[in-house]
Amino acid sequence: MTTLAIIGGTGLTSLDGLTISEHKFVETPYGEPSSPLLLGEYEGKKVIFLPRHGPEHTIAPHKVNYRANIWALYALGVEEIIAVAAVGAIDQNLAPGTLAVPDQIIDYTYGREQSFYSDEFTADRHLDFTYPYTSGLRNVILAAAIRQKVTITDGGTYAATQGPRLETAAEIKRLEQDGCAMVGMTGMPEAYLARELGMAYATCAVMANWAAGITDNEIQMADIEQVLNEGMTQVKQLLVEIIRLQ
Ligand code: HPA
Repeated sequence: MTTLAIIGGTGLTSLDGLTISEHKFVETPYGEPSSPLLLGEYEGKKVIFLPRHGPEHTIAPHKVNYRANIWALYALGVEEIIAVAAVGAIDQNLAPGTLAVPDQIIDYTYGREQSFYSDEFTADRHLDFTYPYTSGLRNVILAAAIRQKVTITDGGTYAATQGPRLETAAEIKRLEQDGCAMVGMTGMPEAYLARELGMAYATCAVMANWAAGITDNEIQMADIEQVLNEGMTQVKQLLVEIIRLQ
């Protein structure tokens, strides 16, 4: 049995039938993770949760200590990470409330610690990142969606932006021209750090809103929250199935 971790998404630990047995504080050489790791069990299967933005959602995307988060999971023996991420939809086919499993990333972030080896770099640390998401783990999410009859889009490029502000309409137009289907603020360097430690990583993206300028409407947090509540119900269905399939 591989050890699975789920990063992200407030409220995800309220899965029916999940018991959290321990809140584990993990120290890392990179500082503290966003939260104690929540060690849980579902139908006899172990799973670890890490709320990326902290237990009270107070850590902004550009302030998340991605290195500490990924290191802490690695230190506990995690081999597979499913990242749950709220995103803005750029592709017209990705309506708010729907889910997608991206297959590519473009990194527009800056000033984030991108590597565990920044201070002790050697030439062999230039890792292959052609396919940033692990295809086997992407397939696990897609298979769970089929079993749970949850509609999900297979593929799409995730644009990782700096945040915490939302984008301008012109920025989204540029991302669209770059071929991006969705935009979020936390996909990088999280995905790459997992690759550096040899952990499988895939993202389940929940469309929270149409990205800036895709429609004429302003983006309202109240609308996002409502859409996310609905989307997260589907994500939970998937997670339960994924944990079961392990
Ligand atoms: N842009 C960036 N990140 C996001 C968005 C968005 O429109 N919605 C949810 N996360």
